[in-house]
Amino acid sequence: MKEESPEDAPSLEGFPPEEFQARRRAIQEALGDAVLVLPAAPLLHRSRDSEYPYRPSSELFYATGATEEGSVALLRGREAGGEYILFVRPRDTKAERWSGPRLGPEGARELLGPDQVHTSDELEAILPGLLVGPARIYYRLGADTTLDRHVRMGLERGRSRGPRRGTGPRELVDPGEVLDELRLRKSPREIERMRRAARVTVEGHREAMGWARPGSGEWEIQAEVEAVFRRMGARGPAFPTIAGSGKNGCVLHYVGNGRRTCEGDLVLLDAGAEVGLYAGDVTRTFPVSGRFRAEQKDVYEVVLAAHRAALGAVGPGEPFSHVHRAAVQALTEGLVALGVLEGDVDELVEAKAHEAYFPHRTSHWLGLDVHDVGDYARNGQSRVLEPGMVLTVEPGLYFPSNGDPEPGPYDGIGVRIEDDVLVTEDGMENLTADLPVEIDDVEARVGVRWA
Ligand code: GLY
Ligand code: MN
Ligand code: MN
Repeated sequence: MKEESPEDAPSLEGFPPEEFQARRRAIQEALGDAVLVLPAAPLLHRSRDSEYPYRPSSELFYATGATEEGSVALLRGREAGGEYILFVRPRDTKAERWSGPRLGPEGARELLGPDQVHTSDELEAILPGLLVGPARIYYRLGADTTLDRHVRMGLERGRSRGPRRGTGPRELVDPGEVLDELRLRKSPREIERMRRAARVTVEGHREAMGWARPGSGEWEIQAEVEAVFRRMGARGPAFPTIAGSGKNGCVLHYVGNGRRTCEGDLVLLDAGAEVGLYAGDVTRTFPVSGRFRAEQKDVYEVVLAAHRAALGAVGPGEPFSHVHRAAVQALTEGLVALGVLEGDVDELVEAKAHEAYFPHRTSHWLGLDVHDVGDYARNGQSRVLEPGMVLTVEPGLYFPSNGDPEPGPYDGIGVRIEDDVLVTEDGMENLTADLPVEIDDVEARVGVRWA
Protein backbone atom coordinates (compact mmCIF):
# COMPACT_ATOMS: atom_id res chain seq x y z
CA MET A 1 0.00 0.00 0.00
CA LYS A 2 1.63 3.22 -1.15
CA GLU A 3 1.46 5.83 1.55
CA GLU A 4 1.15 9.51 0.82
CA SER A 5 0.99 12.15 3.49
CA PRO A 6 -1.99 14.49 3.55
CA GLU A 7 -1.28 18.08 2.60
CA ASP A 8 -0.21 20.15 5.57
CA ALA A 9 -1.28 23.81 5.87
CA PRO A 10 -0.65 26.28 4.36
CA SER A 11 -1.15 24.89 0.91
CA LEU A 12 -3.34 24.91 -2.16
CA GLU A 13 -4.16 21.24 -1.55
CA GLY A 14 -1.27 20.37 -3.85
CA PHE A 15 -2.47 22.42 -6.84
CA PRO A 16 -0.18 25.08 -8.35
CA PRO A 17 -1.37 28.72 -8.31
CA GLU A 18 -1.84 28.57 -12.12
CA GLU A 19 -4.77 26.20 -11.61
CA PHE A 20 -6.68 28.84 -9.67
CA GLN A 21 -5.60 31.65 -12.00
CA ALA A 22 -7.06 29.70 -14.92
CA ARG A 23 -10.28 29.02 -13.01
CA ARG A 24 -10.63 32.67 -12.10
CA ARG A 25 -10.10 33.74 -15.70
CA ALA A 26 -12.96 31.46 -16.75
CA ILE A 27 -15.20 32.64 -13.89
CA GLN A 28 -14.49 36.30 -14.62
CA GLU A 29 -15.18 35.81 -18.30
CA ALA A 30 -18.55 34.25 -17.46
CA LEU A 31 -19.36 37.00 -14.94
CA GLY A 32 -19.26 39.73 -17.60
CA ASP A 33 -19.68 42.98 -15.68
CA ALA A 34 -21.16 41.33 -12.58
CA VAL A 35 -19.61 40.68 -9.18
CA LEU A 36 -19.38 37.39 -7.26
CA VAL A 37 -19.18 37.05 -3.48
CA LEU A 38 -18.17 33.71 -1.97
CA PRO A 39 -17.96 33.01 1.76
CA ALA A 40 -16.06 30.22 3.49
CA ALA A 41 -18.05 27.31 4.88
CA PRO A 42 -19.18 27.76 8.49
CA LEU A 43 -17.52 25.87 11.33
CA LEU A 44 -20.26 23.61 12.67
CA HIS A 45 -20.67 22.93 16.36
CA ARG A 46 -21.04 19.33 17.37
CA SER A 47 -21.90 19.75 21.02
CA ARG A 48 -21.03 22.32 23.66
CA ASP A 49 -17.56 23.58 22.73
CA SER A 50 -16.53 20.81 20.35
CA GLU A 51 -16.79 21.19 16.61
CA TYR A 52 -17.06 18.99 13.54
CA PRO A 53 -13.83 18.69 11.57
CA TYR A 54 -13.72 21.71 9.29
CA ARG A 55 -14.56 21.10 5.62
CA PRO A 56 -13.79 24.09 3.38
CA SER A 57 -16.34 25.41 0.92
CA SER A 58 -16.01 23.68 -2.44
CA GLU A 59 -16.98 26.88 -4.25
CA LEU A 60 -14.53 29.16 -2.45
CA PHE A 61 -11.76 26.60 -2.86
CA TYR A 62 -12.57 26.12 -6.53
CA ALA A 63 -12.31 29.84 -7.24
CA THR A 64 -9.38 30.81 -5.02
CA GLY A 65 -7.71 27.85 -3.29
CA ALA A 66 -8.74 29.38 0.06
CA THR A 67 -9.58 26.81 2.71
CA GLU A 68 -9.66 28.86 5.90
CA GLU A 69 -12.75 29.46 7.94
CA GLY A 70 -13.90 33.09 7.94
CA SER A 71 -12.56 33.97 4.46
CA VAL A 72 -14.66 35.81 1.87
CA ALA A 73 -13.71 36.32 -1.78
CA LEU A 74 -15.04 38.95 -4.14
CA LEU A 75 -14.46 38.62 -7.88
CA ARG A 76 -15.43 41.18 -10.49
CA GLY A 77 -16.17 40.08 -14.03
CA ARG A 78 -13.61 40.77 -16.74
CA GLU A 79 -15.70 43.58 -18.22
CA ALA A 80 -15.71 45.28 -14.83
CA GLY A 81 -11.94 45.12 -14.43
CA GLY A 82 -11.51 41.57 -13.13
CA GLU A 83 -10.56 42.53 -9.58
CA TYR A 84 -9.97 39.76 -7.01
CA ILE A 85 -10.38 40.82 -3.38
CA LEU A 86 -9.96 38.57 -0.39
CA PHE A 87 -10.96 38.96 3.24
CA VAL A 88 -9.26 36.65 5.75
CA ARG A 89 -9.20 36.36 9.51
CA PRO A 90 -6.58 38.54 11.17
CA ARG A 91 -3.66 36.86 12.89
CA ASP A 92 -4.42 36.23 16.57
CA THR A 93 -1.72 34.72 18.74
CA LYS A 94 -4.12 33.62 21.44
CA ALA A 95 -6.65 31.98 19.10
CA GLU A 96 -3.88 30.37 17.06
CA ARG A 97 -2.60 28.61 20.20
CA TRP A 98 -5.89 26.71 20.26
CA SER A 99 -6.71 26.13 16.64
CA GLY A 100 -3.42 26.45 14.79
CA PRO A 101 -1.81 29.05 12.58
CA ARG A 102 -3.85 31.36 10.38
CA LEU A 103 -2.69 32.72 7.05
CA GLY A 104 -3.46 36.30 7.97
CA PRO A 105 -3.45 38.99 5.27
CA GLU A 106 0.26 38.61 4.47
CA GLY A 107 0.12 34.85 4.17
CA ALA A 108 -3.05 35.08 2.10
CA ARG A 109 -1.49 37.59 -0.27
CA GLU A 110 1.46 35.31 -0.82
CA LEU A 111 -0.40 32.01 -1.10
CA LEU A 112 -3.63 33.05 -2.81
CA GLY A 113 -2.53 36.02 -4.92
CA PRO A 114 -5.44 38.46 -4.54
CA ASP A 115 -5.24 42.02 -5.90
CA GLN A 116 -6.30 43.31 -2.49
CA VAL A 117 -6.49 41.63 0.86
CA HIS A 118 -8.34 42.79 3.94
CA THR A 119 -9.10 41.26 7.29
CA SER A 120 -12.55 39.86 7.91
CA ASP A 121 -13.22 42.43 10.64
CA GLU A 122 -13.17 45.04 7.84
CA LEU A 123 -15.99 43.31 5.93
CA GLU A 124 -18.75 45.53 7.26
CA ALA A 125 -16.83 48.71 6.43
CA ILE A 126 -15.62 47.68 2.97
CA LEU A 127 -17.87 45.05 1.38
CA PRO A 128 -21.14 47.02 0.98
CA GLY A 129 -19.30 49.75 -0.89
CA LEU A 130 -17.94 47.21 -3.37
CA LEU A 131 -21.45 46.10 -4.33
CA VAL A 132 -23.20 49.36 -5.20
CA GLY A 133 -22.08 49.55 -8.85
CA PRO A 134 -22.80 46.29 -10.68
CA ALA A 135 -26.31 45.47 -11.93
CA ARG A 136 -25.91 41.82 -11.07
CA ILE A 137 -24.52 40.31 -7.86
CA TYR A 138 -23.82 36.59 -7.62
CA TYR A 139 -24.37 35.70 -3.98
CA ARG A 140 -26.25 32.92 -2.21
CA LEU A 141 -28.52 34.53 0.35
CA GLY A 142 -29.20 32.54 3.48
CA ALA A 143 -25.94 30.64 3.84
CA ASP A 144 -24.20 33.16 6.13
CA THR A 145 -26.34 35.59 8.11
CA THR A 146 -23.55 38.07 8.88
CA LEU A 147 -22.50 38.28 5.27
CA ASP A 148 -26.17 38.48 4.23
CA ARG A 149 -26.36 41.67 6.28
CA HIS A 150 -23.35 43.25 4.55
CA VAL A 151 -24.64 42.31 1.10
CA ARG A 152 -28.07 43.71 1.94
CA MET A 153 -26.45 46.93 3.03
CA GLY A 154 -24.66 47.09 -0.34
CA LEU A 155 -27.96 46.46 -2.14
CA GLU A 156 -29.73 49.18 -0.19
CA ARG A 157 -27.00 51.72 -0.85
CA GLY A 158 -26.88 50.80 -4.49
CA ARG A 159 -30.64 51.11 -4.80
CA SER A 160 -30.75 54.58 -3.35
CA ARG A 161 -27.82 55.76 -5.48
CA GLY A 162 -28.76 53.84 -8.60
CA PRO A 163 -31.46 55.98 -10.18
CA ARG A 164 -29.24 59.06 -10.25
CA ARG A 165 -26.42 57.22 -11.96
CA GLY A 166 -28.42 54.71 -13.96
CA THR A 167 -26.46 51.88 -12.35
CA GLY A 168 -26.72 49.67 -9.33
CA PRO A 169 -27.85 46.23 -8.34
CA ARG A 170 -30.93 44.89 -10.10
CA GLU A 171 -30.43 41.15 -9.78
CA LEU A 172 -29.20 38.79 -7.11
CA VAL A 173 -28.20 35.50 -8.72
CA ASP A 174 -27.10 32.13 -7.30
CA PRO A 175 -23.31 31.67 -7.83
CA GLY A 176 -24.01 28.17 -9.09
CA GLU A 177 -25.20 29.75 -12.35
CA VAL A 178 -21.57 30.50 -13.15
CA LEU A 179 -19.57 28.03 -11.04
CA ASP A 180 -21.49 24.80 -11.61
CA GLU A 181 -20.94 24.74 -15.36
CA LEU A 182 -17.21 25.27 -14.89
CA ARG A 183 -16.89 22.70 -12.10
CA LEU A 184 -18.69 20.14 -14.21
CA ARG A 185 -15.81 19.93 -16.70
CA LYS A 186 -12.72 18.81 -14.86
CA SER A 187 -9.28 20.20 -15.73
CA PRO A 188 -6.35 17.83 -16.35
CA ARG A 189 -5.09 18.51 -12.80
CA GLU A 190 -8.50 17.82 -11.33
CA ILE A 191 -8.69 14.58 -13.30
CA GLU A 192 -5.30 13.60 -11.94
CA ARG A 193 -6.58 14.34 -8.41
CA MET A 194 -9.72 12.30 -9.00
CA ARG A 195 -7.61 9.39 -10.21
CA ARG A 196 -5.84 9.54 -6.85
CA ALA A 197 -9.13 9.65 -4.96
CA ALA A 198 -10.23 6.65 -7.03
CA ARG A 199 -7.00 4.73 -6.31
CA VAL A 200 -7.27 5.31 -2.58
CA THR A 201 -10.94 4.39 -2.62
CA VAL A 202 -10.23 1.15 -4.49
CA GLU A 203 -7.45 0.24 -2.08
CA GLY A 204 -9.70 0.83 0.94
CA HIS A 205 -12.40 -1.40 -0.50
CA ARG A 206 -9.90 -4.09 -1.47
CA GLU A 207 -8.52 -4.22 2.07
CA ALA A 208 -11.94 -4.15 3.73
CA MET A 209 -13.06 -7.02 1.53
CA GLY A 210 -9.88 -8.90 2.38
CA TRP A 211 -10.42 -8.57 6.13
CA ALA A 212 -14.14 -9.34 6.13
CA ARG A 213 -15.32 -12.72 7.41
CA PRO A 214 -18.47 -14.02 9.08
CA GLY A 215 -18.71 -12.38 12.48
CA SER A 216 -16.99 -9.16 11.39
CA GLY A 217 -18.84 -6.14 12.72
CA GLU A 218 -20.11 -3.70 10.13
CA TRP A 219 -18.16 -1.12 12.14
CA GLU A 220 -14.95 -3.13 11.67
CA ILE A 221 -15.45 -3.19 7.91
CA GLN A 222 -16.05 0.56 8.04
CA ALA A 223 -12.95 1.03 10.22
CA GLU A 224 -10.79 -0.92 7.78
CA VAL A 225 -11.86 0.99 4.71
CA GLU A 226 -11.48 4.35 6.45
CA ALA A 227 -8.12 3.42 7.99
CA VAL A 228 -6.76 2.75 4.53
CA PHE A 229 -8.15 6.07 3.30
CA ARG A 230 -6.33 7.96 6.04
CA ARG A 231 -3.17 5.91 5.76
CA MET A 232 -2.98 6.68 2.05
CA GLY A 233 -3.31 10.42 2.58
CA ALA A 234 -7.04 11.05 2.29
CA ARG A 235 -8.66 13.63 4.58
CA GLY A 236 -11.09 10.86 5.40
CA PRO A 237 -14.30 9.56 3.91
CA ALA A 238 -16.00 11.85 1.40
CA PHE A 239 -19.41 10.90 2.92
CA PRO A 240 -20.59 8.69 5.76
CA THR A 241 -19.53 5.11 5.00
CA ILE A 242 -22.35 2.65 4.42
CA ALA A 243 -21.46 -0.86 5.59
CA GLY A 244 -24.79 -2.67 5.45
CA SER A 245 -24.89 -6.41 6.03
CA GLY A 246 -27.88 -8.65 5.42
CA LYS A 247 -31.11 -6.68 5.26
CA ASN A 248 -29.25 -3.47 6.15
CA GLY A 249 -28.02 -3.54 2.54
CA CYS A 250 -31.56 -2.58 1.54
CA VAL A 251 -31.46 0.69 3.51
CA LEU A 252 -30.13 3.16 0.98
CA HIS A 253 -28.41 5.55 3.38
CA TYR A 254 -27.70 3.10 6.20
CA VAL A 255 -24.89 4.56 8.33
CA GLY A 256 -25.44 2.95 11.75
CA ASN A 257 -22.93 0.18 10.92
CA GLY A 258 -23.66 -1.50 14.25
CA ARG A 259 -24.59 -5.07 13.30
CA ARG A 260 -22.33 -8.10 13.42
CA THR A 261 -22.31 -10.03 10.13
CA CYS A 262 -23.48 -13.64 10.00
CA GLU A 263 -22.52 -16.59 7.83
CA GLY A 264 -24.22 -16.23 4.44
CA ASP A 265 -24.74 -12.44 4.59
CA LEU A 266 -24.08 -10.07 1.77
CA VAL A 267 -22.26 -6.89 2.73
CA LEU A 268 -23.02 -3.72 0.78
CA LEU A 269 -20.06 -1.39 1.27
CA ASP A 270 -20.44 2.13 -0.14
CA ALA A 271 -17.42 4.26 0.72
CA GLY A 272 -15.23 6.88 -0.90
CA ALA A 273 -12.04 8.70 0.00
CA GLU A 274 -11.74 12.47 -0.08
CA VAL A 275 -8.27 13.23 -1.40
CA GLY A 276 -7.26 16.88 -1.48
CA LEU A 277 -10.97 17.78 -1.37
CA TYR A 278 -11.95 15.55 -4.34
CA ALA A 279 -14.24 12.57 -3.78
CA GLY A 280 -14.28 8.93 -4.70
CA ASP A 281 -17.58 7.03 -4.37
CA VAL A 282 -17.59 3.29 -4.84
CA THR A 283 -19.88 0.43 -3.85
CA ARG A 284 -19.20 -3.26 -3.87
CA THR A 285 -21.49 -5.96 -2.55
CA PHE A 286 -19.79 -9.15 -1.42
CA PRO A 287 -20.68 -12.38 0.40
CA VAL A 288 -19.04 -12.25 3.82
CA SER A 289 -18.48 -16.03 3.74
CA GLY A 290 -16.69 -15.82 0.40
CA ARG A 291 -19.38 -17.57 -1.66
CA PHE A 292 -22.61 -16.11 -3.06
CA ARG A 293 -25.72 -18.17 -2.31
CA ALA A 294 -27.75 -19.02 -5.43
CA GLU A 295 -30.38 -16.28 -4.93
CA GLN A 296 -27.72 -13.71 -4.09
CA LYS A 297 -25.83 -14.66 -7.23
CA ASP A 298 -29.01 -14.32 -9.32
CA VAL A 299 -29.59 -10.79 -8.09
CA TYR A 300 -25.91 -9.86 -8.32
CA GLU A 301 -25.76 -10.99 -11.94
CA VAL A 302 -28.71 -8.81 -12.87
CA VAL A 303 -27.11 -5.76 -11.23
CA LEU A 304 -23.78 -6.58 -12.87
CA ALA A 305 -25.45 -6.76 -16.29
CA ALA A 306 -27.11 -3.38 -15.63
CA HIS A 307 -23.77 -1.95 -14.51
CA ARG A 308 -22.13 -3.14 -17.73
CA ALA A 309 -24.98 -1.80 -19.86
CA ALA A 310 -24.86 1.58 -18.10
CA LEU A 311 -21.07 1.82 -18.49
CA GLY A 312 -21.59 1.09 -22.18
CA ALA A 313 -23.87 4.13 -22.44
CA VAL A 314 -21.20 6.56 -21.18
CA GLY A 315 -19.31 8.49 -23.85
CA PRO A 316 -18.93 11.94 -25.36
CA GLY A 317 -22.09 13.05 -27.15
CA GLU A 318 -24.26 10.54 -25.28
CA PRO A 319 -27.20 11.94 -23.31
CA PHE A 320 -26.76 11.65 -19.55
CA SER A 321 -30.25 10.15 -19.29
CA HIS A 322 -29.28 7.20 -21.49
CA VAL A 323 -27.00 5.87 -18.76
CA HIS A 324 -29.97 5.47 -16.44
CA ARG A 325 -32.11 4.23 -19.31
CA ALA A 326 -29.62 1.45 -20.12
CA ALA A 327 -29.50 0.39 -16.46
CA VAL A 328 -33.30 0.39 -16.12
CA GLN A 329 -33.70 -1.66 -19.30
CA ALA A 330 -31.23 -4.31 -18.07
CA LEU A 331 -32.66 -4.36 -14.53
CA THR A 332 -36.20 -4.75 -15.83
CA GLU A 333 -35.17 -7.59 -18.13
CA GLY A 334 -33.41 -9.21 -15.18
CA LEU A 335 -36.39 -8.77 -12.84
CA VAL A 336 -38.60 -10.50 -15.42
CA ALA A 337 -36.06 -13.32 -15.81
CA LEU A 338 -36.00 -13.73 -12.01
CA GLY A 339 -39.80 -13.94 -11.97
CA VAL A 340 -40.05 -10.86 -9.76
CA LEU A 341 -41.86 -8.87 -12.46
CA GLU A 342 -44.26 -10.27 -14.96
CA GLY A 343 -45.23 -8.85 -18.33
CA ASP A 344 -43.80 -7.17 -21.37
CA VAL A 345 -40.40 -5.57 -20.68
CA ASP A 346 -41.11 -2.41 -22.69
CA GLU A 347 -44.42 -1.89 -20.91
CA LEU A 348 -42.78 -2.50 -17.54
CA VAL A 349 -40.05 0.04 -18.36
CA GLU A 350 -42.71 2.53 -19.42
CA ALA A 351 -44.58 1.95 -16.15
CA LYS A 352 -41.32 2.34 -14.14
CA ALA A 353 -41.98 -1.04 -12.53
CA HIS A 354 -38.31 -1.19 -11.48
CA GLU A 355 -38.81 1.60 -8.94
CA ALA A 356 -40.06 -0.82 -6.30
CA TYR A 357 -36.62 -2.48 -6.37
CA PHE A 358 -34.38 0.32 -7.69
CA PRO A 359 -35.66 3.58 -6.21
CA HIS A 360 -32.63 5.78 -6.96
CA ARG A 361 -30.97 7.09 -10.12
CA THR A 362 -28.02 5.39 -11.78
CA SER A 363 -25.62 8.33 -11.76
CA HIS A 364 -24.60 11.62 -10.25
CA TRP A 365 -21.74 13.98 -11.00
CA LEU A 366 -18.61 13.54 -8.89
CA GLY A 367 -15.91 16.06 -8.00
CA LEU A 368 -15.27 18.40 -5.09
CA ASP A 369 -18.65 17.27 -3.76
CA VAL A 370 -19.70 13.66 -3.77
CA HIS A 371 -22.98 14.63 -5.36
CA ASP A 372 -21.26 17.25 -7.42
CA VAL A 373 -22.78 20.33 -8.98
CA GLY A 374 -24.13 20.68 -12.50
CA ASP A 375 -27.54 20.42 -14.11
CA TYR A 376 -28.50 17.01 -15.43
CA ALA A 377 -30.93 18.54 -17.88
CA ARG A 378 -31.27 21.90 -19.59
CA ASN A 379 -34.49 23.30 -21.06
CA GLY A 380 -36.18 19.99 -20.43
CA GLN A 381 -33.54 18.07 -22.41
CA SER A 382 -31.01 15.70 -20.90
CA ARG A 383 -27.53 17.13 -21.00
CA VAL A 384 -25.03 15.54 -23.34
CA LEU A 385 -21.86 14.08 -21.84
CA GLU A 386 -18.58 15.80 -22.65
CA PRO A 387 -14.93 14.87 -22.12
CA GLY A 388 -13.81 15.85 -18.62
CA MET A 389 -17.10 15.12 -16.91
CA VAL A 390 -16.96 12.56 -14.08
CA LEU A 391 -20.00 10.59 -12.97
CA THR A 392 -20.83 7.53 -10.96
CA VAL A 393 -22.53 4.47 -12.42
CA GLU A 394 -24.41 2.72 -9.63
CA PRO A 395 -27.32 0.46 -10.41
CA GLY A 396 -28.75 -1.63 -7.61
CA LEU A 397 -31.59 -3.91 -6.60
CA TYR A 398 -33.08 -3.99 -3.12
CA PHE A 399 -35.62 -6.43 -1.73
CA PRO A 400 -36.41 -5.18 1.77
CA SER A 401 -38.00 -7.93 3.85
CA ASN A 402 -41.30 -6.67 5.14
CA GLY A 403 -41.79 -9.30 7.80
CA ASP A 404 -43.92 -11.43 5.49
CA PRO A 405 -44.48 -14.85 7.18
CA GLU A 406 -43.67 -16.42 3.81
CA PRO A 407 -40.73 -14.42 2.55
CA GLY A 408 -39.89 -14.43 -1.16
CA PRO A 409 -36.60 -15.94 -2.35
CA TYR A 410 -34.89 -12.55 -2.61
CA ASP A 411 -36.21 -10.93 0.57
CA GLY A 412 -33.48 -9.17 2.52
CA ILE A 413 -31.07 -9.02 -0.42
CA GLY A 414 -29.61 -5.62 -1.36
CA VAL A 415 -27.00 -5.27 -4.09
CA ARG A 416 -25.38 -2.14 -5.52
CA ILE A 417 -22.35 -1.87 -7.76
CA GLU A 418 -20.84 1.59 -8.16
CA ASP A 419 -17.86 2.87 -10.12
CA ASP A 420 -16.49 6.33 -10.93
CA VAL A 421 -16.25 7.09 -14.61
CA LEU A 422 -14.49 9.80 -16.61
CA VAL A 423 -15.86 10.79 -20.01
CA THR A 424 -12.93 10.94 -22.46
CA GLU A 425 -12.49 12.20 -26.02
CA ASP A 426 -13.21 8.81 -27.48
CA GLY A 427 -15.25 7.00 -24.85
CA MET A 428 -14.88 6.64 -21.13
CA GLU A 429 -12.44 5.52 -18.49
CA ASN A 430 -13.61 3.61 -15.44
CA LEU A 431 -11.40 5.15 -12.73
CA THR A 432 -12.23 2.41 -10.23
CA ALA A 433 -12.09 -0.59 -12.57
CA ASP A 434 -9.24 -2.20 -10.59
CA LEU A 435 -11.58 -3.24 -7.79
CA PRO A 436 -12.97 -6.78 -8.20
CA VAL A 437 -16.50 -6.81 -9.54
CA GLU A 438 -16.95 -10.14 -11.34
CA ILE A 439 -18.37 -12.89 -9.14
CA ASP A 440 -15.23 -15.06 -9.16
CA ASP A 441 -12.94 -12.11 -8.45
CA VAL A 442 -15.10 -10.87 -5.58
CA GLU A 443 -15.31 -14.36 -4.04
CA ALA A 444 -11.56 -14.78 -4.34
CA ARG A 445 -10.87 -11.50 -2.55
CA VAL A 446 -13.22 -11.77 0.46
CA GLY A 447 -11.42 -12.90 3.62
CA VAL A 448 -8.11 -13.39 1.83
CA ARG A 449 -6.26 -11.70 4.75
CA TRP A 450 -7.29 -14.52 7.10
CA ALA A 451 -6.11 -17.31 4.78
N1 GLY B 1 -22.61 7.24 -1.42
C1 GLY B 1 -23.70 8.00 -1.88
C2 GLY B 1 -23.99 7.66 -3.26
O1 GLY B 1 -23.60 6.64 -3.75
O2 GLY B 1 -24.57 8.44 -3.97
MN1 MN C 1 -21.88 5.62 -3.17
MN1 MN D 1 -22.84 7.58 -5.61
